[in-house]
Amino acid sequence: MAHNLLSGHRGIIFGALNEQSIAWSVAEHCAAEGAQLILTNTPAAIRFGQVKQLAEKTGAIVIAADATNEEDLEMLFTEAQQKLGGKIDFVLHSVAMSQNIRKGKVYQEADYQYFHQTLDISAISFHKMLKTAYRLNALSEYASVVALSFIAAQRAFDGYNDMADAKALLESIARNFGLVYGRKHHVRINTLSQSPTRTTAGTSVSGFDSFFELADKKSPLGNATAEDCADMCVILFSDYTRHLTMQNIYHDGGYSSIGE
Ligand code: NAI
Repeated sequence: MAHNLLSGHRGIIFGALNEQSIAWSVAEHCAAEGAQLILTNTPAAIRFGQVKQLAEKTGAIVIAADATNEEDLEMLFTEAQQKLGGKIDFVLHSVAMSQNIRKGKVYQEADYQYFHQTLDISAISFHKMLKTAYRLNALSEYASVVALSFIAAQRAFDGYNDMADAKALLESIARNFGLVYGRKHHVRINTLSQSPTRTTAGTSVSGFDSFFELADKKSPLGNATAEDCADMCVILFSDYTRHLTMQNIYHDGGYSSIGE
């Protein structure tokens, strides 16, 4: 049921690794709505993941970039504009990684090198991306930028570890850059706080399955899927949300408002 909501829109999607990735569904839905896309991920993720298959399916162009590397980001935004033929209308930041989670280091025993890396990959990369786009004047008037977040930015969840701190920082960056970028180029910047979703990053969190089930049971509408999230991103990227900015939007079937 596509409606051509993104016809003529040029977008960059960070973070599609495999079919389970939320960014994968977002890319599929944006392409179905008429968008022209650049898919980006780390060189290793492009080599070992399924990004090229997604590019074939969606007619997208793949450009490798490490989201923590400002030179890579400059090359990405420059090439993306050249290849798509103009300024960028929307960007999805769907990037996260924690070695503390991966290596089973609990919060109270954090390895600080890993902690810095978590913040750099999962939050500061958003600042670097926005800073680069701002400096290059790469985003169009009323462009829309969305980063994916999680309710652990506001509440404590056992097992979510240093990623909770990264999400709090991510949401703060969206607000603060939203102020700067809104005034200058009317660029909208929001975070979307998504339900637990079975993906590579999601299922690496210890206790994910029981939390997934609990959230699904507690949410009046049940957990939002990656496909639902993709529909929401389409709306946020479209021209129908031109005055929505600096918000953290819960997309969680009502879970965040439940008091029990
Ligand atoms: P995923 O594992 O499919 O996606 C994470 C992506 O980050 C991967 O494509 C990975 O290659 C990329 N990445 C890691 N380091 C990078 C770097 N240095 N440069 C560029 N890309 C890098 O998992 P998922 O769940 O789709 O995650 C996407 C976003 O959604 C993340 O921000 C995650 O925290 C968020 N989210 C996920 C939820 C879940 O339950 N799965 C719930 C709420 C938010």
